[in-house]
Amino acid sequence: MKQHLGYDRKIAIVGATGNVGRLTLQLLLQRGVIPKESIITFASATSAGKTLEILDTSFILQELKEDTLAQASLWGFNTEAEVSQQWIPKILSVGGRVADSSSYYRQDPKVPLIVGPVNLADAKDAQLCALANCVSSPLMCVLKSLMPLGIKVLRITTFQSTSGAGKLAMEGFLQETKLFTSAMNGCVESAKALGSMPFYFGRPVAFNVLPQVGGFDDQGYCSEENKILSEIQKVLDKELKISVTTVRVPVLVGHCSDLTVQFQEAIDLNQVCSLLEGDSFLKVSDDIVPPQEVVGKDQVFISRLRALKGFPKEVKMWVASDNLRRGAALDTVEVLEYLWKQY
Ligand SMILES: NC(=O)c1ccc[n+]([C@@H]2O[C@H](COP(=O)([O-])OP(=O)(O)OC[C@H]3O[C@@H](n4cnc5c(N)ncnc54)[C@H](OP(=O)(O)O)[C@@H]3O)[C@@H](O)[C@H]2O)c1
Repeated sequence: MKQHLGYDRKIAIVGATGNVGRLTLQLLLQRGVIPKESIITFASATSAGKTLEILDTSFILQELKEDTLAQASLWGFNTEAEVSQQWIPKILSVGGRVADSSSYYRQDPKVPLIVGPVNLADAKDAQLCALANCVSSPLMCVLKSLMPLGIKVLRITTFQSTSGAGKLAMEGFLQETKLFTSAMNGCVESAKALGSMPFYFGRPVAFNVLPQVGGFDDQGYCSEENKILSEIQKVLDKELKISVTTVRVPVLVGHCSDLTVQFQEAIDLNQVCSLLEGDSFLKVSDDIVPPQEVVGKDQVFISRLRALKGFPKEVKMWVASDNLRRGAALDTVEVLEYLWKQY
């Protein structure tokens, strides 16, 4: 790996104004491992020159340009895949190290795919690492604990909030909700606006459930389903058999999954439970844990853990986590702090 010599020891967050970028900055400031004076921020050309306030700190936003790439030695990318594709190779070529939360590099065999609590050490010698997504990352936190029991098959159905698609998707969902509510109360203008508005997900998500996250391939899989499947196989076991259906639900923040795990042999539920309870990044609950109750929390929550009647090798559970944290900002921060401590 090229060493980044001669630059200030600075860390740059790209996509700082987005859902994940703002939370990445907040977590960096709250955790205090990296001094705030060492953090600089980037967003699109429309944000350049503006000030971003996070907690008690003001950041001046810059635009990515060829002559700004030497300003930092460590980079956290919280932008869409196209931005990563365009700029990360240029940063690598001048010796910078990058943690990328977009999907662009996740399946590159030369790039480690990181889930903070699962394989952080794989980032040690990497100039570039990719971060697993906001469904596969929390699921892998759960599965890591259960791997010693011998997992054979996973069946997953997701319930994904609108924030998973970025700040514009959230704003679109809120606007739809307002318009539907006022149209139902008789407002003619709202009904008209609904008739002509471009829905962010192609159809209304407000008061609705969409069994599609991303575009479809020619076998009928959504892109999100392919991501979850290939990310879990890349990090945990390429032989794992996984079926997955992804669903967008009218929720602002918090992704959930109905997870069925089939083991090689008949399984004792108490053994499963005690393994899950042994990891600090997991929280096993006797009560149900809906998405609203995980917002702002770092842990991955497991509830409705049960043995399946008639299926002695299987257990089922409900997995819920803050999608802007686990599989997004929190993993970004865990990797950046880990790399920072190496310098
Ligand atoms: N949301 C989640 O739950 C989640 C979870 C895991 C991974 N991710 C991934 O994380 C990435 C960011 O997601 P998000 O939800 O935070 O998106 P978002 O809210 O839409 O924010 C996008 C950010 O990218 C910036 N940006 C756009 N074009 C840029 C450019 N050319 N150069 C520099 N910055 C640019 C935007 O800046 P402006 O404000 O100036 O436009 C904004 O800061 C995506 O790849 C997403 O797939 C998201």
